Amino acid sequence: MLISYAWSLAHRPINSLFTLVEMAQEDIFKKLVSHCKEYGFVFPSSDIYDGLSAVYDYGQMGVELKNNIKKYWWDSMALLHENIVGIDSAIFMHPTIWKASGHVDAFNDPLIDNKDSKKRYRADVLIEDQLAKYDEKINKDVAKAAKRFGESFDEAQFRSTNGRVLENQGKRNALHIRFTKALNDGNLEELRQIIVDEEITCPISGTRNWTEVRQFNLMFSTEMGSTADGAMKVYLRPETAQGIFVNYMNVQKTGRMKIPFGIAQIGKAFRNEIIARQFIFRMREFEQMEMQFFVRPGSELEWFAKWKELRMKWHKALGFGDNHYRYHDHDKLAHYANAATDIEFLMPFGFKEVEGIHSRTDFDLSQHEKYSGKSIKYFDPELNESYIPYVIETSIGVDRMFLSVLSASYCEETLGNGETRVLLKLPAPLAPVKLAVMPLVKKDGLPEKAREIMDTLKFQFHCQYDEKDSIGKRYRRQDAIGTPYCITVDHQSLDDNCVTLRNRDTMQQERVAIAELNSIIADRVSITGILKKLI
Ligand code: GAP
Repeated sequence: MLISYAWSLAHRPINSLFTLVEMAQEDIFKKLVSHCKEYGFVFPSSDIYDGLSAVYDYGQMGVELKNNIKKYWWDSMALLHENIVGIDSAIFMHPTIWKASGHVDAFNDPLIDNKDSKKRYRADVLIEDQLAKYDEKINKDVAKAAKRFGESFDEAQFRSTNGRVLENQGKRNALHIRFTKALNDGNLEELRQIIVDEEITCPISGTRNWTEVRQFNLMFSTEMGSTADGAMKVYLRPETAQGIFVNYMNVQKTGRMKIPFGIAQIGKAFRNEIIARQFIFRMREFEQMEMQFFVRPGSELEWFAKWKELRMKWHKALGFGDNHYRYHDHDKLAHYANAATDIEFLMPFGFKEVEGIHSRTDFDLSQHEKYSGKSIKYFDPELNESYIPYVIETSIGVDRMFLSVLSASYCEETLGNGETRVLLKLPAPLAPVKLAVMPLVKKDGLPEKAREIMDTLKFQFHCQYDEKDSIGKRYRRQDAIGTPYCITVDHQSLDDNCVTLRNRDTMQQERVAIAELNSIIADRVSITGILKKLI
């Protein structure tokens, strides 16, 4: 038996077992979180001081997995595209940048408090949850009917004629229209009224005793330096993108870049999230991998469609299964965008955003031109004219990507002997440790032979040497951290210069010449293998 979260969610029955399955998912999510701590992937920050809310540290395994994810992204941008280059800009930036970008005035979440439980919620999230409830009701009715009618079931006809489905669909559509309008108008009173009209209750107190909705800015601020007039208020960047925008001219000129071209960056971002939950899904300090692609005005929607497709391909190339991904096109566009979509991944707690793709128009560059007073125009030699480029942005959270990879990889398997093995079926190129080298016993020259092998492989692969405990226990330890291959050195190895190579997922072993190990393993664990799927 094999339980993998994302798989079972994708195939969950929509019937009375639903709640049980949901509970099981929650259980598995809890197990994943403790697995992360037990095996050195993720620790709560400041753990010995009881942690710091929504801040996490990556341990010895986590940092390797995270670095491999970043390398996969970076290489897919900077190696595969001749017209994309990278930068690494500072976290602290001139405070006017955040005024120009609109973050000082508009980087807000609408908040509402329940007066009885004293709990604080995002008003938009409460309403989105309500929309999801209507969807759930409709899907339940459809699933029930499908079961009742069997093969002869015509879903489209059922959806367009069944009274209850039509009623719920009508309510959902009306709510959706009202909600979108309230968001687009920035109408906080209307958001509150929707919560009241929909009779949304606080999950803690169960009451509908709500405060007004008010805006809350998510940027952290601090002070820099000290002058006679006082220190300067600076912000911790809430996105890495602005570091790219303000360096656009530097890179374009020094790199002699021609439109279309892109600038990629990986770095930390900070947001004072109101509701920090779901482990590393929503953090206050996190990392982003962002790429701004500068294009001719008027061509942006074509490029948007291209990047939407390219980014989905990047995700699917990891091999977790196409049913783990979907697009979510935005109803409410950010102040800078004329098209936007999210790539959502099936997490243990449902489909959630991992990456955003935005057509950001010329908003940011125009604003920086206005606020800095410096020209940011590009002279296009083919058109013989100057313009401010339009921008397509791809923006993915490293930590959310990390969580999606781990949740799709975490498995519990019941073996023939009744034992359970916990394993991470990580794509080999992302695995923190690529192979473990183990002498079968701790004597007879086997450790020396194993060390010799390790010394030739360690330059190319992250290896672990392990001679403690039974071979079975050692395999289990490697399975738990997702090591794709284990090499066992036995007595015969001393004579025939061969070892057994064990595959993590199949547990199959093959006899392989030591001289060939390097090329066999390199082929299977290299990031190049996945990158080739992208072109
Ligand atoms: N520059 C555009 C931008 O920052 P965003 O949708 O706010 O857009 C992009 O963020 C990505 O950053 C998200 O898709 C998500 O993966 C990640 N992200 C955003 N907020 C996060 C948080 N509080 N914790 C972890 N990841 C976050």
